[in-house]
Amino acid sequence: MNNGNKVVLIGDGFVGSSYAFSLVNSTLASELAIIDIRKDKEVADVNDLLDATVLTPSATIVRSGSYEDCKDADLVVLAYGNSQKNLVNRLDDIKIATEMVLDTIPKVVANGYDGVILLATNPVDVIARVVEEVSGFSSERIVGTGTSLDSARFAQYLALETGFNVADINAYVIGEHGNSSVAV
Ligand SMILES: NC(=O)c1ccc[n+]([C@@H]2O[C@H](COP(=O)([O-])OP(=O)(O)OC[C@H]3O[C@@H](n4cnc5c(N)ncnc54)[C@H](O)[C@@H]3O)[C@@H](O)[C@H]2O)c1
Repeated sequence: MNNGNKVVLIGDGFVGSSYAFSLVNSTLASELAIIDIRKDKEVADVNDLLDATVLTPSATIVRSGSYEDCKDADLVVLAYGNSQKNLVNRLDDIKIATEMVLDTIPKVVANGYDGVILLATNPVDVIARVVEEVSGFSSERIVGTGTSLDSARFAQYLALETGFNVADINAYVIGEHGNSSVAV
């Protein structure tokens, strides 16, 4: 059973569609509205996820969304970006990601969204700040994924090197999710 939460996912590429699949396999959301500028991808993923929900415990209602869905949403997730470019440094993505924020966040705000925005869009720490500025929301309402992926990778490398089970390893990468991060 799900607990009645509605999630709006904006950006349905590699990251967004993986997030969506994980979500429908959890019991966290009753409804998932997906928005992507690539409508064919959005609709194809909605149909595939609906098929999958027959086999999941939550039976999440998945559908193509619009910005009006933000009105009564409990969580808005930003997973847009562009993974197709061959970038050396995540900071190179600032301009394109900022344009995406300027295109989307005013529509989220205009529809009266009053919850938290979770984002993975790189460079994630910088873009979290841009989302805060553009939305006018307090910083507590903007949650970037930060170095969570780096920490997971670090723990995995240590597990492979030492032979210990990754479940027995606590390891953290701190700082920015980028070239200046530090493994501790
Ligand atoms: N924070 C992390 O740990 C982490 C990890 C992996 C990837 N990322 C970042 O996540 C982002 C997405 O990566 P990906 O591999 O899924 O990219 P992708 O290119 O596969 O998907 C991006 C999607 O965003 C959509 N999009 C672009 N502009 C949009 C807009 N204005 N409105 C709605 N949708 C829009 C595109 O159509 C595409 O489907 C990138 O910025 C990437 O660097 C972050």
